[in-house]
Amino acid sequence: MRPWVRIVSACTIDGRIASSTGFSRLSCEYDLKRLHMHRAECDAVMIGARTAEIDDPMLTVRLVPTKRQPIRVVVDGRLSCRTSLRLFRTAREIPTIVFTSERADPGKIRELKDLGVNVEVVGHEKVDLKAALEILYSRYGVRKLLVEGGGNLNINLLREGLVDEIYVTVTPYVFGSGVSIFNGDGYKDTSECPRFLLKDVVICECGNCVVLHYLIER
Ligand SMILES: NC(=O)c1ccc[n+]([C@@H]2O[C@H](COP(=O)([O-])OP(=O)(O)OC[C@H]3O[C@@H](n4cnc5c(N)ncnc54)[C@H](OP(=O)(O)O)[C@@H]3O)[C@@H](O)[C@H]2O)c1
Repeated sequence: MRPWVRIVSACTIDGRIASSTGFSRLSCEYDLKRLHMHRAECDAVMIGARTAEIDDPMLTVRLVPTKRQPIRVVVDGRLSCRTSLRLFRTAREIPTIVFTSERADPGKIRELKDLGVNVEVVGHEKVDLKAALEILYSRYGVRKLLVEGGGNLNINLLREGLVDEIYVTVTPYVFGSGVSIFNGDGYKDTSECPRFLLKDVVICECGNCVVLHYLIER
């Protein structure tokens, strides 16, 4: 068993979630509030190692009322993230999990555990994402998982059939290069890629962004 998986992302008109310099602040104030509503609705929030390194996010609910903070989850196959990240420094207050592989340095695992981080080793070369989701479900009680990118984690989850729905906010910008919302080994044509079913379209209160809600067809 695994949690329901929801990807939420803000991208440019050309589908980029970050520019070539790593700039990624695309959301307007209304979109940020929506993101915090998603966080409040989910049991855990997952990000990839590069997003953790570049953005140094807290992944907490701050802009809407909430009864509890979601568990924070980082997928970091080589355990390359700095231990000084805010997520790790606050792990004693808010549960924080790192999924890594057997490539991780045991010394770094100890360092993170000393900070109060739950470190789970799943997989040899890469993190076995299916096993990671099963652990979230059975060991941590996660039923609804919010994935906040980046593009590499998103495509890896999609390729393994582990995504149930996506919310994409298309913002009024174009980067022309950078990281796309699903970034990695691609599909060769439409017959290979999963089918997305449009569930809802909302024009943002700012009047300049569109939120697309798609379900993945099974
Ligand atoms: N606009 C938005 O909504 C939004 C949201 C999130 C992020 N972003 C931006 O996106 C950029 C980062 O995206 P990204 O695609 O470069 O990186 P990412 O997806 O955040 O992280 C990629 C890293 O995650 C690890 N990873 C992912 N799947 C794995 C697996 N199955 N096993 C092991 N490790 C795995 C790998 O680390 P190792 O290679 O170390 O093993 C991989 O290099 C940042 O600039 C961030 O600001 C934008």
